[in-house]
Amino acid sequence: MSLEADLLELAVDIALEAGALAKQRRAEGVSIAATKSAIADIVTEADREVEALIRARLAAARPDDGFLGEETGAEGGASGITWVVDPIDGTVNYAYGIPAYAVSIAAVEGPPDPQTWTALAGAVFAPAMGELFRASRGGGAWLGDERLHVNDEAPSGALLATGFGYDPATHDGDLARVRRVMPVARDLRRIGAASLDLAYVAAGRLDGYFERGLNPWDHAAGGLLVIEAGGRVGGYRGNAAGQAMTIAAGDAVYRAIERVIEE
Ligand code: IPD
Repeated sequence: MSLEADLLELAVDIALEAGALAKQRRAEGVSIAATKSAIADIVTEADREVEALIRARLAAARPDDGFLGEETGAEGGASGITWVVDPIDGTVNYAYGIPAYAVSIAAVEGPPDPQTWTALAGAVFAPAMGELFRASRGGGAWLGDERLHVNDEAPSGALLATGFGYDPATHDGDLARVRRVMPVARDLRRIGAASLDLAYVAAGRLDGYFERGLNPWDHAAGGLLVIEAGGRVGGYRGNAAGQAMTIAAGDAVYRAIERVIEE
């Protein structure tokens, strides 16, 4: 097996186990939250516990790799490969009982910086919906047995998704951007989990996605899904995707989004 296939197999196995744990903790937490009104604590605890599980499994299987996780931060490795992990992407959905949350696990080569890394493998698992999206570099993007393809054209206007950072100070800018994008959109979704937005672009369920303020773990696995499904992922003015901007779509819609948000 190739390195990419090995890494993907591990990412998938761990994502399935981690997703099952997140789902179980959500189910258990509902009754605790109902009595203690402490859903935020339960979510934080589940986030930490799921990341700890992922980290322990990765350390056991590939002790020389580095790690970058939303909850526990970064640790370098000797192999040149880093795992970039969001244990529960879509934590607000998770807290509210909306099923659009996911475990996102990617293996990247090079420093864990989206400007320079090469993503090798990625898995996005939405346990409450029972869907696991996976991709490896050169191996395509898949949902079960179905090979995924982005939509190349959106002749009736593009179905787009976006997100808003949790910092209210950024909302005016986010809304101004939405206003600029709406003329090229047929409609706009705010699903609440960046990894799923990207997986849905890969699967052709969305024509495109854009968001400011993403962290590496939000888009590492989902970005590879889009690329392997034949799409483009990038930022402003030819830069790589990152904090400043992430755009993902097939080429035609990508260019339409890029044109209006850079105006
Ligand atoms: C968030 C989600 C959300 C996006 C935010 C992310 P988290 O991740 O992906 O859709 O709009 O920018 O931070 O905090 O739920 O892991």
